[in-house]
Amino acid sequence: MCGIVGYIGKQKASAIILEGLKRLEYRGYDSAGLAVQQNGRFGLVKKVGRVDNLIAQAAKARLTGTTGIGHTRWATHGGVTDANAHPHLSSDGKFALIHNGVIENYVSIKKFLLTKGYTFQSETDTEVLCNLIAYHYAKETEEEGTSRFLTSVRKTLHHAEGTYGIATMCTDCPAEIVAARKGSPLILGVGDNEYLLASDVSALISRTQNVVYLKDREIVHITARNFSISTLDQEDVAPVIDTVTWRVEDSDLGSSAHFMEKEIFEQPAALENTMRGRFSEDQSTANFGGLNLPPFEFRQIDRIHFCACGSAWHACLVTEHLIERFARMPVEVDYSSEFRYRNSPLPASTLFFIISQSGETIDSLAALREAKRKGYKVLTMVNVVGSTIAREADGGVYQHVGPEIGVASTKAFTSQLLLGAMLALYFARMRDMSYSDGVEYVQALKMAPELVRKVLEQAPHIREIARRYAHYKDFLFLGRLSLFPVALEGALKLKEISYIHAEGYPAAEMKHGPIALISEQCPSVFFAPAGEMFSKLVSSMQEIKARRGRIIAIVTEGCELPPGLADELILIPPCHEAVLPIVATVPVQLLSYYIAVELCRDVDKPRNLAKSVTVE
Ligand code: G6P
Repeated sequence: MCGIVGYIGKQKASAIILEGLKRLEYRGYDSAGLAVQQNGRFGLVKKVGRVDNLIAQAAKARLTGTTGIGHTRWATHGGVTDANAHPHLSSDGKFALIHNGVIENYVSIKKFLLTKGYTFQSETDTEVLCNLIAYHYAKETEEEGTSRFLTSVRKTLHHAEGTYGIATMCTDCPAEIVAARKGSPLILGVGDNEYLLASDVSALISRTQNVVYLKDREIVHITARNFSISTLDQEDVAPVIDTVTWRVEDSDLGSSAHFMEKEIFEQPAALENTMRGRFSEDQSTANFGGLNLPPFEFRQIDRIHFCACGSAWHACLVTEHLIERFARMPVEVDYSSEFRYRNSPLPASTLFFIISQSGETIDSLAALREAKRKGYKVLTMVNVVGSTIAREADGGVYQHVGPEIGVASTKAFTSQLLLGAMLALYFARMRDMSYSDGVEYVQALKMAPELVRKVLEQAPHIREIARRYAHYKDFLFLGRLSLFPVALEGALKLKEISYIHAEGYPAAEMKHGPIALISEQCPSVFFAPAGEMFSKLVSSMQEIKARRGRIIAIVTEGCELPPGLADELILIPPCHEAVLPIVATVPVQLLSYYIAVELCRDVDKPRNLAKSVTVE
């Protein structure tokens, strides 16, 4: 949610932190701030708005220190003001703290601290935590071989209920940072004579590829020369240094106007990367090395339960359709946030699957933990390598699409659809699908990048349509079977980035309610691919037309619509059923993107949203 960056080294910390914050801005962009150790006190700058505002302010502040922390905020407690922006200082000025997460018992801690004379400048839970560190620090005495700073952070965290990824500095320890996590991601970067901290690897990769993924309830104490990790219960932890494969160029905008545009057009390559090396030698099924699901274990499973949020939830719905259709296994799809509290009765033979681009969405992480607590096997489909969900699951598949920076998911979504189609194939081949049908299915999946490329060629045509439709206030997105979830995704994309009201609906269900909305003022984006439902889809379109509704039809090349039925036509190439959801998604991504551009929206950082939601 919020972005965290920290630096200790020989360089000017502010420049490195500001660069890191720019790269993390998609995690939250209400306000930003940084604090640098500066001659026994903190040089502090914080500002409402984007990181660019902070950069302008920081330039005036002459921050020369080489140890510092910085933060981009997505507000939870307290409005969007300079005072509520992080870092927060303790009232004695000794500590600076940045925090991602929510401290649930902050009200009672604050009451206690007020009786002890601590004062508060903001409404945040973070400032309360910062003052609690100061309180413990004031009570501690220096002991040989232990850090008083570290001990007071540890004591504070024992009292903190809720979630946190924190980094803190103390004026008595000018080249030290103490950081810890519980429920919010935190990564240590081990550079050349320098250490970095971040909530996301993209903030680190310009300086180092070597990282340590901290686990929940771990604290890292970093000095200019080394670092040590221990648990909240004071057990030492041997660090495991991983190598990140993402390159810094992957997080750069290049010549694109927005990350969303870049990521839409990257999809053919992203799909190729998702598939690479994942088909069997005889090309009749998929191979998933990391799934940890041997065939004899698979035979014990007779249903699959998916949990996810946002676009990933739509990907689960498409995957449900494909697994039920091809593998003939019952599938259930849940919102992670609902599953974790609903306490559904589920047979022991259920396999869990969590889909999450970031691998950090707190609701999905909680769903994973709940399923594991109940003894179920939990697998994942995740993009970010080393993320918490990926590490806590019993196995899974990585999407391998590189960093997705645009807040609205595009390439990660189509890659989830592809992996879902591959899972359906894998399960189907373990059950009743024949060798030759498997070979045909694999050939079809391999066509996906090329088919997406063909749809992308229509971008100028879709841009024209967007120009004509950008002023409408309501849209319906209608599709059937595997394209109903794609209709939901189309509606979500439009809502997220253009702030236009849109609803996704099963096309035939439209007549049971949403048809009341149809008028000249409410256009419908209608998926009408070739296949056995085509004539029924045409009938539904006729019902819209009869009520003077405008139709943007997404139709397979070669399918004839009655003259005058569609106001706008977007053609998609003929393809296999398993690839259709991927191919059909691309036009609605482009349509939403161009409408948002037409309306001058902040496409990559839409209002109120954040890329990775690490609070409940
Ligand atoms: C946020 C993002 C969505 C994303 C959802 C789930 O709401 O804005 O684009 O689909 O989180 O994220 P995940 O990382 O778990 O896929």
